[in-house]
Amino acid sequence: MSTQPGNDRLLRALLREPVDRTPVWIMRQAGRYLPEYRATRAKAGSFMALCTNPELACEVTLQPLARFPLDAAILFSDILVIPHAMGRGLGFEEGEGPRIARPVRNEADVGSLPVPDPDDKLRFVLDAIRLIRRELAGRVPLIGFAGSPWTVATYMVEGGSSRDFVRIKGMLQAEPRTLHALLDKLARATTAYLNAQIAAGVQVVMIFDTWGGALATPDYLEFSLSYMQQILAGLAREPEGRRVPVILFTKGGGIWLTRMAAAGADALGIDSATELSDARRATGDRVALQGNLDPSLLHEPPERIRNEVARVLESYGRGPGHVFNLGHGVMPATNPEHVAAMIAAVHELSPQYHR
Ligand code: CP3
Repeated sequence: MSTQPGNDRLLRALLREPVDRTPVWIMRQAGRYLPEYRATRAKAGSFMALCTNPELACEVTLQPLARFPLDAAILFSDILVIPHAMGRGLGFEEGEGPRIARPVRNEADVGSLPVPDPDDKLRFVLDAIRLIRRELAGRVPLIGFAGSPWTVATYMVEGGSSRDFVRIKGMLQAEPRTLHALLDKLARATTAYLNAQIAAGVQVVMIFDTWGGALATPDYLEFSLSYMQQILAGLAREPEGRRVPVILFTKGGGIWLTRMAAAGADALGIDSATELSDARRATGDRVALQGNLDPSLLHEPPERIRNEVARVLESYGRGPGHVFNLGHGVMPATNPEHVAAMIAAVHELSPQYHR
């Protein structure tokens, strides 16, 4: 297995090394907007059946690469395999999102949670990674990922998706020690899980903090960022001499970028609300930046998409350290042709920023 991919633009950009053009990949690039994904998912029977079958997970990981000239593959899985591995029961109802069968609501629940051994309970993910690396044969790097402890905890405490996070915020106020115990367990489980992903072959790691932006600043620092920092400190980031860059993404985290950069990430994901020029100024070129075209722009005609790609590239400006992406996941109703138009525009318009 070669450790250096043929196309190493993503790795170079994440380490702020020179590239010939801006690398591009898309959050949720393997997903429901692709008819071939919907077909494989139907064949699998359910989303969880797809996630837990390494051959099918490998197949859908590679689908967007067969269609588009992307600079990275991202492992097909989900952040909620951690509560699944902890035995809390995970299901996805059609049109309803995730459901945790046995939510975590008190000290006794937290105390009973195991820290799962990834080689045992999450072996299906590690097998998928080894398969994907073999199939990629070094064409592009493979990104592994996990959710932030705070974001995964919101699903475990609420029992599913939430609009207002009433239960977990209640726990934060009334029983902060219980919440800290849960977050610490999740941070330890996630560190072991990501290190197992790295050992199996992922070349980049991304931490999705989708719901950190729902917190007040002191709570974000205490209940979300500090646990991502704990994970960063525990990762094997230079196994066998190769550097594994880590991307932190807090959706709605534009006001905390300076603190996120100081936590020790190589790169930060930037959502569409934050201007890349402002993000670059705030982080003083200490980290690479990934983003941030508004996913809803992909519903517009290709001409309009091209203009927005130009705007995003210009906002970051000249020099290395930019990875082109959306500000959040691609939406299921997106026309794949529009995704192709976005990628073509990045290929066409970005080289001038690297001369
Ligand atoms: O990006 C990729 O292509 C890799 C795969 C990936 C999935 N989920 C597959 C998926 C990744 C990186 C995730 C991360 C994830 N999962 C996050 C963080 C990123 C983000 O979007 O903010 C979160 C919050 C989850 C939890 C989750 N998984 C929810 C809330 C849902 C239901 C809502 C939805 O979008 O359908 C999922 C299901 C899910 N995960 C799907 C996919 C392709 C859709 C499932 C289906 O096929 O019906």
